[in-house]
Amino acid sequence: MAKKVLITRIIPSLAQELLTKAGFEVAVWKGHTPMTPSQLIEQARSVDALLSLGSNKLDKHFFNECGHLEVIAQYAVGFDNIDLNEASKKGIPVGNTPYVLNEATADVAFGLMIAVSRKMFYLHKTIERGEWIQFEPLKNLGIELTGKTLGIFGLGRIGMVMAQRCRGAYNMDIIYHNRSRNPEAEKKLACTYVTFDELLQHSDVLSVHSVLSEETRGIFNKSAFSKMKPSAIFINTSRGGVHHEEDLIEALNDGIIWGAGLDVTNPEPMDPNNPLLTMANAAILPHIGSGTVEARNGMARLAADNIIEFYKSGTMPHCINPSVLKKQ
Ligand code: DGY
Repeated sequence: MAKKVLITRIIPSLAQELLTKAGFEVAVWKGHTPMTPSQLIEQARSVDALLSLGSNKLDKHFFNECGHLEVIAQYAVGFDNIDLNEASKKGIPVGNTPYVLNEATADVAFGLMIAVSRKMFYLHKTIERGEWIQFEPLKNLGIELTGKTLGIFGLGRIGMVMAQRCRGAYNMDIIYHNRSRNPEAEKKLACTYVTFDELLQHSDVLSVHSVLSEETRGIFNKSAFSKMKPSAIFINTSRGGVHHEEDLIEALNDGIIWGAGLDVTNPEPMDPNNPLLTMANAAILPHIGSGTVEARNGMARLAADNIIEFYKSGTMPHCINPSVLKKQ
């Protein structure tokens, strides 16, 4: 009998096509908003495999109710919505979609950096408000990026692309802080490993590319911002939970740092009345890091491949709890 897969939102049709071609019976949740937790449990009860999105909360309760699932393929590289420990306890392998969104996400970080350095989002709005009256020799001045220091928090695949872009475009020096050192980045891009405090103190642009974990949650808070340069730009394209949003607003208002560009906020979606949206020194986007045709199709292909390969060979191209596979 054909294995049943539930795709929890409408995603590029490639995923469904590949799964169907491989002999799976595929159901797609067609709602324009994510399923509620109880809807998800109800829908997942009757399938063997789940192709989930970051907006699905797969917590302990979910795994207690849906421990029958044989495999989960997340349509994202991030998986902070999934209690991996609980998935592993139930023996469920979980896959994700790395690599294919590196360029797209780094582009957003790079674009936000430039937008903040020249107050682009804010100045666009001044035109809409009829405030562009004449050339202003002393107003709306930005700062230049050439020769500045880029600090990366979480130098992995996406951070490496951001580092390459900043080195190529602006000949920036690159420092980074990670849980463990990245010898490839040190060799290829002459990135220098520094402590977290050194990263805060020396970065002209500090770009966050880390995962959200208990270690990184809220790490960019009042105390961290207070150690940064008053001319520094803070960029976050990873997860909103890594920065403390009230503290960031305060740091921007009080001139503790110069500007901030966020593709991820805390919470998401952002409240349309959030002060960050009207501040001259902030540029905000609605979590579009992976939002290119190429990246989203790549994610669809990888998510489908994770499921197909699991049933074919018991392995997965990108498994995030591989110890579960070894036991099977
Ligand atoms: C990811 O892949 O984790 C992105 O944030 C999803 O869109």
